[in-house]
Amino acid sequence: MTDKRFLHGQWSSRLAFILAASGSAIGLGNIWKFPYLVGENGGGAFVLVYLLCVIAIGIPIMMAETMLGRRGRQSPINTMASLAEEAGANPLWRYVGWLGVLAGFLILSYYSVIAGWSMAYIVKMAGGFMDRVSTTDTQQTFLDLKAASDIQLVWHTAFMGATLLIVSKGVSQGLERVTRIMMPGLLVMLLVLDVYAAGTEGFGQGMAFLFKPDFGKLTGESVLIAMGQAFFSLGLGMGSIMVYGSYLPDHVSISRSTAFVAAADTLVALLAGIAIFPVVFSYQLAPGMGPGLIFETLPLAFGQMPAGSLVGSLFFILIFFAAITSSIALIEPAVAWLSENRGISRPKASLYAGSICWFLGIGTLLSFNAWSNTTWFGRNFFELVDFVTADILLPTGGILVAIFASWVVKTRDSERELELGPRYVWWQVLTRFVAPIAIAIVFSHAMGVL
Ligand code: PFF
Repeated sequence: MTDKRFLHGQWSSRLAFILAASGSAIGLGNIWKFPYLVGENGGGAFVLVYLLCVIAIGIPIMMAETMLGRRGRQSPINTMASLAEEAGANPLWRYVGWLGVLAGFLILSYYSVIAGWSMAYIVKMAGGFMDRVSTTDTQQTFLDLKAASDIQLVWHTAFMGATLLIVSKGVSQGLERVTRIMMPGLLVMLLVLDVYAAGTEGFGQGMAFLFKPDFGKLTGESVLIAMGQAFFSLGLGMGSIMVYGSYLPDHVSISRSTAFVAAADTLVALLAGIAIFPVVFSYQLAPGMGPGLIFETLPLAFGQMPAGSLVGSLFFILIFFAAITSSIALIEPAVAWLSENRGISRPKASLYAGSICWFLGIGTLLSFNAWSNTTWFGRNFFELVDFVTADILLPTGGILVAIFASWVVKTRDSERELELGPRYVWWQVLTRFVAPIAIAIVFSHAMGVL
């Protein structure tokens, strides 16, 4: 093998991993969820806690999960089982993989409904309905969509159908090519919106809201939500990064690749926040309005721009692609397990898994209309599924991955896999002590809200 071929091979595999992992990380969590959670939880202090969680908990766990995937080289359930066997540990560790399959399922059920909203907005923007709209118009448009369970069902079905088509055909390679264009496209589009936001009168107020911490607004629950959002946004704690890690060649640096993905993910979330809050304050809207935030504010910005309907529809198309690359990661652990262990063909496995998610998604879309007042533990169906997955299952999966990778896997092996040199001890301290203890403290503080 010539040096050149070797180097080229190395580069393209690393790129493939980075593309797949950022495709999974960057999604609705960055553009839809992060801004509305920041708005609901008081701004700057929440952002700061979020960033701390990404650095001290998210990145080390992302490295741990990738490493386990690369050592196991199978679907997460089988990887956990064989690594536990290799280390002579309790076979119950395989249930970490199961936890991930469950979390992915539940997340995808509502993810598809929200992605469906974005698809509805592609059409609304392209049709020019948003030209020079007022706040009452955007609010009404969103209210109408929320009220129309039939229209939401059509879009939810279309999105789930698109996901299943891609997963069952295994055309992820084609998708990789789309991701290569989509990611920079999304970045450019967010920058365009940021430049627009910088010229609005609410810019100063928006930036202060995002970046000036007011710790008085922080509660035990909001810290839990910030931590859950770090897991959700990085796509951690449910085995999808483990799947991608299993395809990672030995010579690729796990630390550099994961740091890149985490940085890109965080950048996109912050850029989305910078685009949205100045508009919120310019139009005297409420930052804490909830899941409708981007749908009620961004059309106001697009409505004022030259060629706004074109820019707006392009933006929602990009959100659709970002959502689809994440939804593939969400369903993959289940499909991989069904086809690896149960001998079910990929198309059938996708259909079974997807149908259950689709059915559960109906509960979410009804949460915005017929079931909006039906609550369990003070939460409607959508809020409950979101809370259980992002704030309970993902951090629980994360804590177990951290403990397994740092205590059960032999130090000699993890040291060799991670190639961190003298910085290895940092990773070890973070995964052995800091992450598990921090997650446990946040859980116990938030007990009151369970
Ligand atoms: N990270 C995705 C987002 O921010 O939209 C959502 C997600 C994907 C969560 C994959 C978990 C996951 F395994």
